[in-house]
Amino acid sequence: MQSEDNRRKVFIKTYGCQMNVYDSQRLGDLLEGEDYTMTSSMEEADCILLNTCHIREKATEKLYSDLGRVRVMCEENPQTTIIVGVIGCTAQAEGEEIIRRSPLVSLVVGPQTYHRLPQILKEVEKGEKVVAIDYTVKAKFSNLPTKKVKRQHGVSAFLTIQEGCDKFCTFCVVPYTRGAEVSRTVDQIVHEAERLADAGVSEITLLGQNVNGWHGKGADGSEWRLGALLFRLAEVKGLRRLRYTTSHPRNMDNTLIAAHRDLSILMPYLHLPVQAGSDRILHAMNRRHTVSDYLRLVERIRTARPDIALSGDFIVGFPGETDADFEKTLKLADEVFYASAYSFKYSSRPGTPGTSMAGQVDRYIMDERLQRLQALLNEQQRQFLRSKVGTVTDILLEKTGRHEGQMIGRSPWLTPVAVQTRASVGTVVNVVIQKAMRNSFIGTHDGK
Ligand code: 5AD
Ligand code: SF4
Repeated sequence: MQSEDNRRKVFIKTYGCQMNVYDSQRLGDLLEGEDYTMTSSMEEADCILLNTCHIREKATEKLYSDLGRVRVMCEENPQTTIIVGVIGCTAQAEGEEIIRRSPLVSLVVGPQTYHRLPQILKEVEKGEKVVAIDYTVKAKFSNLPTKKVKRQHGVSAFLTIQEGCDKFCTFCVVPYTRGAEVSRTVDQIVHEAERLADAGVSEITLLGQNVNGWHGKGADGSEWRLGALLFRLAEVKGLRRLRYTTSHPRNMDNTLIAAHRDLSILMPYLHLPVQAGSDRILHAMNRRHTVSDYLRLVERIRTARPDIALSGDFIVGFPGETDADFEKTLKLADEVFYASAYSFKYSSRPGTPGTSMAGQVDRYIMDERLQRLQALLNEQQRQFLRSKVGTVTDILLEKTGRHEGQMIGRSPWLTPVAVQTRASVGTVVNVVIQKAMRNSFIGTHDGK
């Protein structure tokens, strides 16, 4: 290994979901264990890696506009050779096309191939261009060398337990960019959770494109699903909070619902995307459940954990969606009441069945539907936040705030909370919520 000073500096920019955030961190660990060091400044980097997202057209466009900026930067500094790489989901989906459109890119690496990156970088340093987008059978992080790298963790960390998707919703590129569902083993997950807790992490969010599709052999030899895994992780010493995301309604089984009932460490917050409120559209989306299946499920979850806050994802303007279908989406949102939700205009993605479906919806109709849905969801979020004013709430303190003596923490429902306190980062304190802002709370803490 070269000395600290000679090590080449790598800048990783992350687009998209939490899975990409986790991947970038692990990749950082991997490269730090080789001849590289991470930098947070693109300008001083010898190697720029763009960890991309392909979920909607806009995300992909962002890559190409950023590559334009990188090109200008390289042209302004012709004396330095910078390696530019595109990794992640757009890399997987577009492969060589990226190099054709942006010749300054010299490596394109898909999410299943990250363990080969140190080797690939060496080839690129010799002047080669490399496109590596093959799927490997084993989960990629099991293939990573186990060099010990000490990374600074915050109070809260992600832990990927599952990757890929076999559900093939007809709008979604994930099954093509992330491949088939692969679960990490119980041992790997428990080991990583213990390592994080030892490093001072108080909260772990389990990640997966279909996180509740996770399964693995438990200590008792039986096949575990996510519920059983949560019961096991609840025993890890030092952890205060567990979360998981993103779930599919079809994989919310009894043990998982029981975990919400029985585990106080499992936060009463659940992201449970429904996408649309019309059975006809749900069918066309291949979601494989109906509106009433979803409503019944929500009722079962709320019976198990009455204070649970729900979050969701919606798509407006899926091909064939009529005004009447859209009204049903509003009705469903109204019935469920979401504490927070994400909503998107349908974006036609290459290679997905939705692209060739009849009845593509005009852009201006999508705009109008999105506005109406977001108005409703914003109002629900406002009501939810206001309903907490005056209550005493557990807040996990995450960092110091901008003002003297102020700390920023998070509520069980992920809301940022500003509070004056002397308690230290990583502790959970009881805070009286004084005021609800648009997306945050202001609270007071007695024990200051
Ligand atoms: N168009 C719009 N939104 C999409 N999503 C996934 N694919 C598309 C698409 N083609 C949304 C879904 C999903 C979230 C991560 O992104 O709501 O739950
Ligand atoms: Fe995409 Fe559907 Fe899989 Fe979620 S469940 S990743 S929306 S195909």
